[in-house]
Amino acid sequence: MIPESFIQELLNRVDIVDVVDKNVPLKKAGANYSACCPFHNEKSPSFTVSPTKQFYHCFGCGAHGTAIGFLMEYQGLSFVEAVHELAKMVGMIVPQETRDISKPAQKVVPGLLETLQQAANYYKGELKKSPRAIDYLKGRGLSGQVAARFQIGYAPQGWQNLQGVFDHYDSEVLQTAGLVVENEQGRRYDRFRDRIMFPIHDQKGQVIGFGGRVIDPEDTPKYYNSPETPLFQKGHELYGLFLARRAIRDAGRALVVEGYMDVVALAQYGIEYAVAALGTATTPYHITKLMRQTDEIVFCFDGDAAGRNAAWRAAMNALPALTDGLQLRFLFLPSEHDPDSYVREFGKEAFEAAMKTALPLSQYVIQNLSSDNPLQSQEDKVRFLNEAEPILKQIQAPRLALLLRKRIAELSGISLDEMRSMVRLPDLNQRPQRSAPRQSRTTVSLHRRFALMLLMQASLAREEDMQWIQGDGDDDLMVRMTMEVALLNPQSNPAALLHQLEKHLDDRLLREIQRELHLLDETLDFGLEFEGARKQLRDIYTQRRQSRLLDSIKEKSLSQLTEEERALLKSMNTRTGG
Ligand code: UTP
Ligand code: MN
Repeated sequence: MIPESFIQELLNRVDIVDVVDKNVPLKKAGANYSACCPFHNEKSPSFTVSPTKQFYHCFGCGAHGTAIGFLMEYQGLSFVEAVHELAKMVGMIVPQETRDISKPAQKVVPGLLETLQQAANYYKGELKKSPRAIDYLKGRGLSGQVAARFQIGYAPQGWQNLQGVFDHYDSEVLQTAGLVVENEQGRRYDRFRDRIMFPIHDQKGQVIGFGGRVIDPEDTPKYYNSPETPLFQKGHELYGLFLARRAIRDAGRALVVEGYMDVVALAQYGIEYAVAALGTATTPYHITKLMRQTDEIVFCFDGDAAGRNAAWRAAMNALPALTDGLQLRFLFLPSEHDPDSYVREFGKEAFEAAMKTALPLSQYVIQNLSSDNPLQSQEDKVRFLNEAEPILKQIQAPRLALLLRKRIAELSGISLDEMRSMVRLPDLNQRPQRSAPRQSRTTVSLHRRFALMLLMQASLAREEDMQWIQGDGDDDLMVRMTMEVALLNPQSNPAALLHQLEKHLDDRLLREIQRELHLLDETLDFGLEFEGARKQLRDIYTQRRQSRLLDSIKEKSLSQLTEEERALLKSMNTRTGG
């Protein structure tokens, strides 16, 4: 792992304008630079780069990030590669990769990422040495380039090959990483033996797990995956997403398939925007993750019964995540095919043509509900309504929900009003609450503004501010973390500061902050406004604290009160009494 302090220095040293300009020529436009966005098709420029904030942002497609992020997206580099590339540009040397001790203890076990990457390198090297493994992949139609693109490897036969790879075969981390297994006698052996290895990457391109496929068809199970680890949760990750990002944006859609080999074979035939759920049902996490990249998702599962079940489960899991802007469609292949065999037999064009005929979610739902229901008798219709009810209940997207309700009412031979009187459905006019609104709108935006100004001008932070920022709500955490990061790096630019916050705040919040930051007028002097916001915010925190104290005072007798509680009571008496 590269020390965080180095990344900070790097982000403060490079100029994103140079970095972008080398790849996409920029024109000066006011305080910023602009160009036609390299991440989506457009005729007039909505891609801007800010020299003060050190961010790029596209108002058309929403692409945004730091210099590191730009290289990752544009050149398809991993995080580590992008850091090396930038360091080269400004003549810095990336320090020996050691554990970053300044990082607070987190879920991530130290060394896990390095360990997995080291294993991936080893497997990759072993593939080159194994004619048997190479023949297997060739036999499945894969070229060397595609195997390299997916960093496919081979875990050789034998029980303890990794002993020769790692200095400490008995260390905890190998087991946590899921690379070794311990039997009841406490003996360790490699989890993956004589298998084709598919590394699974996270969104930064870091290896977080593996899938291993047998070569010998007699062996079972066919695929063996890494266990869940602190870095790897099957329900959250999508195989191939890191490599597919660029293609997803270019194509304007993502294709979700079932298997590792489907993703790889599709890429071999020029369809590079496919990803796979890792042997689990597609989860709402998967959908949300994909929705960040595109608003069209096509599911294409195997043509067999298992594939059809998987499609239905995917549809059901997608319901809560649906929005009116999102298109979800389902492609059903002939039952003898999976995407891999289909694209190999018919090629890219036929596959993409088939995709155009994919069923929209609403049609698929209706078709599935009425497939074994003739909708003739009263009983048929009652059953139909009963099955539709839980589905309708989960859809919050107003237009989609309304159209689907209408259609279902129609098929059941009742009116929409009649349906409403029978089935309690979500009120479509009232948008769902995103999170419990514990604070009023004005305080939320005050918190946000305060944090934004701190990011623009870290030197405004003061040590004593840390004392009054309390509480553990989302906003409290955001303000506190921003303050902490600003105090530690008073000279850093917004991009460098935001990079530090990545570890502590959730993605959605970070994206919002980045967007607002980009819209902020950089020519302003924030000094005065910041003082005002600080005072208001401190008052809010003080009041909150006092009302909490008062609550606790009510429960106590006078002798149980703490110093602070007594002082508060006294000040209130003087205020009301005097
Ligand atoms: P498939 O059997 O459809 O795999 O399982 P595939 O990718 O088409 O494999 P090939 O073509 O036979 O090589 C789909 C996915 O289900 C998971 C894997 O993620 C696989 O890619 N799976 C399957 C397992 O986890 N374990 C298994 O034993 C089988
Ligand atoms: Mn297959």
